[in-house]
Amino acid sequence: MVAVVFGSSGGVGRALAEALVARGGYARVFAVSRSGAGVEGAEALEADFLDEAALARAAEVIGAGGPVGLCIVASGILSDGEGLQPEKSYRQQSKEAFERVFAANTIAPALIAKHMLPLMPRAERSVFAALSARVGSITDNRLGGWHAYRASKAALNMLVRNYAIEQARRAPGAICVGLHPGTVDTGLSKPFQSGVSKEKLFTPEVSAGYLLDVIDRLGPEDSGKCFDWAGKEVPA
Ligand SMILES: NC(=O)c1ccc[n+]([C@@H]2O[C@H](COP(=O)([O-])OP(=O)(O)OC[C@H]3O[C@@H](n4cnc5c(N)ncnc54)[C@H](OP(=O)(O)O)[C@@H]3O)[C@@H](O)[C@H]2O)c1
Repeated sequence: MVAVVFGSSGGVGRALAEALVARGGYARVFAVSRSGAGVEGAEALEADFLDEAALARAAEVIGAGGPVGLCIVASGILSDGEGLQPEKSYRQQSKEAFERVFAANTIAPALIAKHMLPLMPRAERSVFAALSARVGSITDNRLGGWHAYRASKAALNMLVRNYAIEQARRAPGAICVGLHPGTVDTGLSKPFQSGVSKEKLFTPEVSAGYLLDVIDRLGPEDSGKCFDWAGKEVPA
């Protein structure tokens, strides 16, 4: 079985790929990113996740490596330090921001699923995990704001649920989940860390370790749900 991390140039994605190599549970680890950046011990592949032809090319190489036992989507966007900022009010919403955020956080994982789920085994256990966020929980939303990001992750959670239902028919061992990595010290969270206490801000390595432990403990009954770094279910 092989493992694949999409978004291996990102903070959490790189740490996940490195930890998978270090743990050694898979015959091969593929690290897919827009830049094709290498991760030691993993096989680097280049793809923009919004480019289906590029995803199909990556899938061909990955599929030739063996059945996919684990696929983690660790890509995503929150702000860009320029025009794209999480909204505090509906007054700040824009078509451009919604399009960019949904493209990266919802559509890209959907396209990755399209090309990866068929490579997952029918009978044996497999996991498709997309990094979501606690703020994508509608039930848990007491603060408001961050309209495009929250909505894009809520929509991602719905897709994960749909894939779980579809995969259960084709591949009874398949598990599809969303994962909240905690607040992790990466480029994505950097501008928003001021209110976060030191103990609650994980390094990417700590978060990746927790997430792989959660993945190891998942069973078919967990498919379609979203879990945080501690393995606690995040309500829809
Ligand atoms: N950090 C946190 O506190 C936190 C909290 C909750 C949830 N999350 C979620 O965890 C995931 C990982 O976040 P992170 O903190 O590791 O962020 P990060 O360091 O900014 O990494 C994001 C990654 O996404 C990639 N990406 C974005 N759009 C892409 C596209 N169209 N094609 C290919 N790659 C694309 C980036 O690639 P480039 O390097 O090419 O730009 C980068 O590798 C995200 O889904 C995020 O929403 C993070």
